[in-house]
Amino acid sequence: MDDLIFQAIKKRRSIREFTDQAVSLDDLKLIVEAGIWAPSGKNNQPWRFVLITDDGVREEIGKLTLYSHILAGCRALIAVYIDSEAMYDPVKDYMSVGAAIQNMLLTTESIGMGAVWLGQILKNKKQVSAVLGVEERYNLMAVLAIGYPVHRKQKSHRKDLSDFIIKKFGG
Ligand SMILES: Cc1cc2nc3c(=O)[nH]c(=O)nc-3n(C[C@H](O)[C@H](O)[C@H](O)COP(=O)(O)O)c2cc1C
Repeated sequence: MDDLIFQAIKKRRSIREFTDQAVSLDDLKLIVEAGIWAPSGKNNQPWRFVLITDDGVREEIGKLTLYSHILAGCRALIAVYIDSEAMYDPVKDYMSVGAAIQNMLLTTESIGMGAVWLGQILKNKKQVSAVLGVEERYNLMAVLAIGYPVHRKQKSHRKDLSDFIIKKFGG
């Protein structure tokens, strides 16, 4: 079995400490490119993105989360939105955006960078959109903080596989 993808999935960690090395808009575009190749219901591609490498904008966004220290240390942000006008079914559309985000996190690692998916900031999603000048038809789903990791010693854990399997049929 070619287990490269499986290993990449297991090795991915949330990165919260970053070096000073700059991240370019081209780097962010590559990460977004991975996102848009996620599956979506009816292939409706409801995801939208704001790319941020500007320090001043990042600083303003940083004031809107408990994780401001992460935003202060990272080099770039991607704000991930869903377009309400592209949606056809909330559950399916939100899941599609989640799939896009996972593609983006894995691709970020594959190009030597690291990222963390920030959800707490959604508490202030209206203010985030105001800072970014994003219209109300777009709903903020997540902010990804991106940069080059200081180290890769992050640990994480998962419960045992058997904790998640409710039933089994077959041998
Ligand atoms: C929906 C969602 C919201 C999250 N929000 C935050 C957050 O606001 N701040 C943070 O530091 N990490 C956040 N994380 C990262 C999780 O804490 C992390 O994925 C989890 O602890 C497992 O660690 P791992 O990503 O290294 O496997 C979030 C992850 C998800 C999927």
